[in-house]
Amino acid sequence: MQRLEGAVALVTGASAGIGRATALMLGAAGARVALVARRQERLDALCDEINTAGGAAAAFAADVASEVQAGAVVAAVIEHFGRIDILVNNAGIIRPGGIAGGDAQDWRDTFDVNVLAPMYWSRAVLADMLARESGHIVTVSSNAAKGGGAPTNNAYAASKHAITAFCGGLRKEVGSRGIRVTIVEPGATATEIAETITDETARAAMRSHLHNETVMQASDIAAAICYALSQHPRVNVDEVWLTPTR
Ligand SMILES: NC(=O)c1ccc[n+]([C@@H]2O[C@H](COP(=O)([O-])OP(=O)(O)OC[C@H]3O[C@@H](n4cnc5c(N)ncnc54)[C@H](OP(=O)(O)O)[C@@H]3O)[C@@H](O)[C@H]2O)c1
Repeated sequence: MQRLEGAVALVTGASAGIGRATALMLGAAGARVALVARRQERLDALCDEINTAGGAAAAFAADVASEVQAGAVVAAVIEHFGRIDILVNNAGIIRPGGIAGGDAQDWRDTFDVNVLAPMYWSRAVLADMLARESGHIVTVSSNAAKGGGAPTNNAYAASKHAITAFCGGLRKEVGSRGIRVTIVEPGATATEIAETITDETARAAMRSHLHNETVMQASDIAAAICYALSQHPRVNVDEVWLTPTR
């Protein structure tokens, strides 16, 4: 974790769950953290928490699915902290529903946030990283990336499969220029992700899947992200696959 001291990290989806836990862990390890999500008041509260504990954080409210906002926020973070060493593409959504009778707008929203957004934010940070031949992009995918996920989470599984493939390709594109690329694929983790599901039955099913004593905690996934980030720069942790023990 010593290697994270003074590094500048941008974490998307920092207002809840895995992103929040990752921002806290990075802040405690001495990284300077740019917090991105839509809910400004949550980002401000997290910012205070990290700064009060002796860290350095700043909030940048944005919709990750906006290509324009990705460019503007990355420019603002570089203006504020001087550079970006680490991007954690964590923001993600799930919109359960079968394909038969499914809502194509749900599929588009899922791909906008889970696939296109990490592509926008990766491109936005790469100009500065490539110029310095240094940087690390970590993206949070899912166990659903392989094997299709649950029967009613097909669009989510397709999006996570796509983003895992994107990261494999990106690593081939920029690895030789000194940029590290890591994909983190968690299984069931107790976060707020069920609360964003509008369909009541699906929300209840996801709640009971995610909130029992056997699932992982957001801090477990944050620890895996920080493990990958804190390796020697000559080491690229390509993929971290995490499942609950029971
Ligand atoms: N929990 C699990 O079991 C699990 C398992 C495997 C993978 N994952 C993945 O882990 C990642 C984090 O999920 P989580 O479980 O921590 O979920 P969560 O508690 O619901 O947090 C999701 C975060 O993403 C942000 N977000 C969503 N849409 C956004 C948008 N359009 N613009 C900006 N920020 C947005 C939310 O912030 P705002 O609402 O404030 O914008 C929030 O901070 C996701 O990629 C998810 O697919 C989760």
